[in-house]
Amino acid sequence: MGAGPIGLAIAWRCAARGLRVVVHDPAPGSGASHVAAGMLAPVAEAYFGEDELTGLLTESARRWPGFAAELTEATGVDIGYRTEGTLMVGLTADDLAEARRLWSYQQGLGLPVSLLRPSQLREREPALAPRVRGGALAATDHQVDPRRLVPALRLAAARAGAVLVTEPVRQLSEPSGGVTVVAAGCGAAALTGLPVRPVKGQVLRLRTPDGGPPGFRHVIRGYADGEHVYLVPRECGEVVVGATVEERTDVAVSAGAVLRLLRAAVDLMPELAEYDLVETIAGLRPGTPDNAPILGPLPSRPDVLAATGHHRHGIVLTPVTADLITGLITGEGTDDPLLTPFRADRFHPDSKEEDLWS
Ligand code: GLY
Repeated sequence: MGAGPIGLAIAWRCAARGLRVVVHDPAPGSGASHVAAGMLAPVAEAYFGEDELTGLLTESARRWPGFAAELTEATGVDIGYRTEGTLMVGLTADDLAEARRLWSYQQGLGLPVSLLRPSQLREREPALAPRVRGGALAATDHQVDPRRLVPALRLAAARAGAVLVTEPVRQLSEPSGGVTVVAAGCGAAALTGLPVRPVKGQVLRLRTPDGGPPGFRHVIRGYADGEHVYLVPRECGEVVVGATVEERTDVAVSAGAVLRLLRAAVDLMPELAEYDLVETIAGLRPGTPDNAPILGPLPSRPDVLAATGHHRHGIVLTPVTADLITGLITGEGTDDPLLTPFRADRFHPDSKEEDLWS
């Protein structure tokens, strides 16, 4: 259930293994992936206290080059996979101090973060504002275009034999000898009772006035006067500017969010003020209590596998999620240690008690 990148990648992998696959989604590709920028950022998004998640992000990013090559081979679709790396920058001295605390933490985990002097930053990206105080390079953090990825996965899944059904599904069916995978993003909560909640993100899309590529090539992640912003340049002239993180369930675009995102973006990259503002959009990330995905059987229904709760990381986690869930279905990966921290039963009311007494 769910024809976003996660559901479609699982469908592709399973159909390619010869399984009979039906994907249910009333509006394929219209969820969080339609809004997502497509950063593959296990380094820049490694946050304090999320080390197990960082491990999974790193493993999935390691699988991305092979996954992208296989998908392009299977479909002939250019999915906008780019490997120029990510520059993390701080605008003011306070911004840089905040950023440096995170970069030190990331370096402490052994992640590849190289500090850059302002002159080195500008050598890499001359269009950065002169007042940017400093930065760091996450050379292994790449990007893909989710709006190309989803149609490519849909084609790959269809070519492998998966069938898409657009009738809405409102509840799980009774066990029938098959396996149900719930990859329905925020919709997983109503279907399974799992603690998945919407986390709103507002995003803008800009475009170069002449349709040529933007004047910078790295993904830029910046702290600008206390605002966090990312700028994702695409070859087609698009720049994705994101994103708010809000505990809200609506998808309205607010004037204040557009103002803050644009101000931070232009403060870091002044030429963006001359670009066309072509889209404002909001989406709902599937968040969980520990910000990590839920992967594997429901405690009450071993025939139902959750593949949801990917929160800020759905695109980067697509390859590893597809491999792990396919391994559970075929029986070849039931004891994969990568799954252990992300099992659905970690939120079961009894699980803490068991931990305490084990
Ligand atoms: N990973 C970027 C975001 O969720 O906004």
